[in-house]
Amino acid sequence: MRVVWNIALICHAYFICTSSAQPGSSKLHDGWWAYKDVVQGSFVPVPSFWGLVNSAWNLCAMGKRQSPIDIETSHMIFDPYLTPLRINTGGRRLGGTMYNTGKHVSLRPDKAYLVNISGGPLGYSYRLEEIRLHFGSEDYQGSEHLLNGQGFPGEVQLIHYNQDLYANYSEAVRSPHGIAVVTIFIKVSLSENPNTFLNRMLNRDTITRINYKHDAFLLMGLNMGDLYPDTTRYITYEGSVTIPPCYETATWILINKPVYITQMQMHSLRLLSQHEPYKIFLSMSDNTRPTQPLLQRCIRTNIHFSKQGPHCPNNRAVRPQYRVNQWLLK
Ligand SMILES: *[C@@H]1O[C@H](CO)[C@@H](O)[C@H](O)[C@H]1NC(C)=O
Ligand SMILES: *[C@@H]1O[C@H](CO)[C@@H](O)[C@H](O)[C@H]1NC(C)=O
Repeated sequence: MRVVWNIALICHAYFICTSSAQPGSSKLHDGWWAYKDVVQGSFVPVPSFWGLVNSAWNLCAMGKRQSPIDIETSHMIFDPYLTPLRINTGGRRLGGTMYNTGKHVSLRPDKAYLVNISGGPLGYSYRLEEIRLHFGSEDYQGSEHLLNGQGFPGEVQLIHYNQDLYANYSEAVRSPHGIAVVTIFIKVSLSENPNTFLNRMLNRDTITRINYKHDAFLLMGLNMGDLYPDTTRYITYEGSVTIPPCYETATWILINKPVYITQMQMHSLRLLSQHEPYKIFLSMSDNTRPTQPLLQRCIRTNIHFSKQGPHCPNNRAVRPQYRVNQWLLK
């Protein structure tokens, strides 16, 4: 309680200071937010403050279609019109730059490569802009979305923008139907084969090149198809981007099967710093926004519970929970 009160005070004092300061020196810039409190140093707004410190970020506090959410599988609705997602790489391998942004591991494809998705719940074609990794300090947390209240060690988010309607990501993210995010949960496993695509990003030679904020490393010859698990099943809902300004322009597509990484790869992720090398080490892990209320939104899926086999009776109320859990949690 005391900590919260102190932050509120600092926050209040900050507003008084900035109102008289010249705009050029304002700290209210795009990157002035954090996932968790820093032990020392100046106040940086954590998720519960994002919507309060900057009027341009109102949606983070006031929005009614925010992400991430906790997917309660008993609330899902089967939609027979949801076709499989189409991924188009033009048969080419991908080159891109992997960054430590201080907040995420981010992989941006080079402009020369066009990867787009369409179909499924999407009415337009969306171009891949960025692949972003969220992960936890412990194996029971790290994903932004939860499944029946449970977190995963990590979550890969493939962020695409609507290339039919908009010129680029920055225009799309603030516009209707602007963004499509494909989410794949990450699990840590000793026995399952680690994901080939993530292997390229997370092997020690590569991941240690981006130990510190602003570090970047070029990767070539990536095959997008390797990242997607072998399933056409997904869960979809309408939500927001999960960082400020929390624009409510995103269609989310959660793939109904996880990808695996090794314990060593998970460990390497946790050793990434949020800071530059000359500053104190602060692990990037737990870079997740807490889940937001679903309110009256609907969660749709193409997982056809009643068609799982001849022995599945028309027991739809019970089946979904079992099926989806089994797919994701195995
Ligand atoms: C999607 O990507 C493919 C392959 O790169 C390309 O041929 C196609 O024109 C793209 N679709 C749109 C709508 O740009
Ligand atoms: C995005 O497109 C808009 C509209 O065409 C343009 O004004 C803006 O400069 C572009 N932004 C970037 C970052 O390319």
